[in-house]
Order: sequence, then C-alpha cells, then structure tokens
Amino acid sequence: MNYIKKTINDIDVAGKKCLVRCDFNVPLDDNMNITAQGRILGALPTVKNLLNRGAAVILCSHLGRPKGKVDPKYSLAPVAKRLSELLEMEVPLAADVTGPDAAAKAAALQSGQAMLLENLRYDPREEKNDPEFAKELADMADIYVSDAFGTVHRAHASTAGVAAYLPAVAGLLIEKELEHMGGAMESPVRPLTVILGGSKVSDKIELIENMLTKADNILIGGGMAYTFLKTMGGNIGKSLCEDDKLELAAELLQRAAENGVEVSLPADTVAASAFAADASHAVFPSTNIPDGMLGLDIGPAARESFAKTIASSGTVIWNGPMGVFEMDAFAEGTRAIARALGESSCQSIIGGGDSAAAVEQLGFADKMTLISTGGGASLEFFGGRELPGIACLLDK
Ligand code: 3PG
Repeated sequence: MNYIKKTINDIDVAGKKCLVRCDFNVPLDDNMNITAQGRILGALPTVKNLLNRGAAVILCSHLGRPKGKVDPKYSLAPVAKRLSELLEMEVPLAADVTGPDAAAKAAALQSGQAMLLENLRYDPREEKNDPEFAKELADMADIYVSDAFGTVHRAHASTAGVAAYLPAVAGLLIEKELEHMGGAMESPVRPLTVILGGSKVSDKIELIENMLTKADNILIGGGMAYTFLKTMGGNIGKSLCEDDKLELAAELLQRAAENGVEVSLPADTVAASAFAADASHAVFPSTNIPDGMLGLDIGPAARESFAKTIASSGTVIWNGPMGVFEMDAFAEGTRAIARALGESSCQSIIGGGDSAAAVEQLGFADKMTLISTGGGASLEFFGGRELPGIACLLDK
C-alpha cells in the first residue's frame, strides 16, 4: 500500500469548506461526561491549521455504535462542547447529519469558523458506504480531509466513499501515524522487535504472519502465549488456550524458524488460582503451571529477558498487554515492557487499544515515539492490509 499521501499542507484551503472526518469516538460516563479526551486533542492540530489558513471546517465523526438510529445516548453534543472550550470559539452542533440543519449551518459557515455534524452512524447509510449519503456529505464541502486514523480500516461513506466526490487529503494526525508506522514497516532501524500480547492468537494471525517476513524478533506474552506454550508440549494448567489454534501456532513457530525470526515466549509466568485481583498467585516456569492455576502475567525472568531484547532493538512495535494489567497483582509484566521502552532509545510504536491504555495508565506515554490512536486500524496496518480510509486519499 502507498501511504505517502497528500496532506492539508499540500493544498490551498483558504476560503474553502473542508469536511474533516475525525475519530471523536470518546468514552462517556452515564452523565455524558467525556472520560478520556485524547482523541479530541489529537484532532486539534489539523483543525487549528485549517482555521488559521482561512478554511471553514465541518467536523464529522461517529460515536459508539447506534446502529443507524438516532439515539441521544450517542450524541456528539459533549464533543461539540469540549471542542468549543478547547478551540476557545463556538463550535455549533448540527441537529442532524446531512439533513436541513446540517446543510443550512454548513452553507452559512464562514472562513475561520468550525461546526460539527451529528453522529454519522445515526444514518444507516454511513456504515453501508452508501454513495448517495457520501454525496450528501460531499455536497456540503469543497475538500475532504481524513484525520480519523482510528476508523481508516472501515470502508464507510465518511471514511472512504466521500473521497469519490471531493479532493481527498490526509490530516496531520494521519500524516504522523503513517510516517512512523510506515517507516517501521518499510525501513525500520534494525533490529525490529515486535511485542505481541493480549488474550487471543486468533486476533493477531495476520499480524504475526506479516511480521514473520519483516521482524528480527517476536516476543509473545499475554494470554495468547499459552497456546504457543501448549503446542510446544508445556503444561499450562487452566491458562487461556485456543485449542483450535494449536496447529496454527506450531506452524507459525516453524515458519519463524525457517525465516530466521527469533520468537521468544515467556520463560516464567505469574499464575493465579482464579481470574481475580485478590487471587493467590505465584511464579512458575511457563511450561510447568500447576493444574488448577492460570497464567495472568509474565514472570520476572521473562520481564528481564524481554527488556534486554528491547534495549538492543532499533525499532519496537508493541501490540497487546503482557498480562491482566488492570489488576495490580498482574500489571508488572506490562509495566516492565513500558519501562524498558521508555528507557530505550529505540523507535517505539504502540498499537492503539489496550497497549495504548496500558502505557498511558502506567505513566510512560510521553516516552514513546508514537502511540497510535487506532486499535483495530493499527492491527490491520501491521497485518499488511490495505486500509480503505488511506487508499482513497490522493497520492503525493
Ligand atoms: C475505535 O474506537 O476503534 C474506532 O473509533 C472505530 O470504532 P468501531 O470499531 O465502532 O468502528
């Protein structure tokens, strides 16, 4: 895939209306308060750039999965309010998505002003990538700006379809994500180490397969490690295991050996009597976990060995926590990886989702080269898939 795309800085935006697709899919509490505003902050450089250069900015996003129906619980009203505060100007929210209010507000919008459309997924045509809906979105603007990295793996009307009707360029957030992630894939500073965690092998098959042709080292922790450990003949107690993926796991290990990719599994494991924060636990060799116990984190020897590999790496891509980091007793493995990355001078690229949350929660966020804003999107990117929301943009 070509990810050298035209950006907002490559085009003249003065006096133009820019439809900017953002990922404002932020978590809300029961009172509709935003509980993490990272994604809103992530959009600001693009929005400010466009406003400062004399564009009128029509922002749009989805929030949650309202399934094509208007549901006030998924309204973007809290986002419009927060944007108004952050930009220190009124950012009005249209009462609809492409209906009369949106169209009237967009028509009246002046250079240097911004507005927000209501939740794109209130309209069932959005997720169907309906060309008419894409056209209705396009009709409000002169230029399409894609800055919703978290959604570029979706072929929806606002992420892909709309690009058929307008000049389509990347925003600064997407530019930054592509620069670092593309660099790590195309010409990484070697050795390239990929750290994989999380619960399931099945979520990461494409990623592993793709990395078997690119990486020098693959470190595997988290729940997914036990499927690999079992296929090697280990006793994993009652740890998570995908029995239908044992053969595949063996085949992946075999291919890694053939390709000269060093795959490391955790030598030891913190295993607990139950999946609970206060469960009794102890450290065991990962291939000799007592029956009745389950692995919930990598052990101290694994932490040390993984940290050593990180210290000697030129680039590290990390996707998935090493253990149940939400529970203090099982957070040390994930913390050790975050710390080792923070102390290393390598290019550190953190896939979105859980690994991003872990790095942020454990206080190492400012030490990383890039924390991707896209969980699913970065997984697909590193899995070598074409991303519809990137493919539709103009090449540089
Ligand atoms: C995300 O939160 O991962 C993105 O906003 C995409 O949301 P979706 O999985 O509902 O498409």
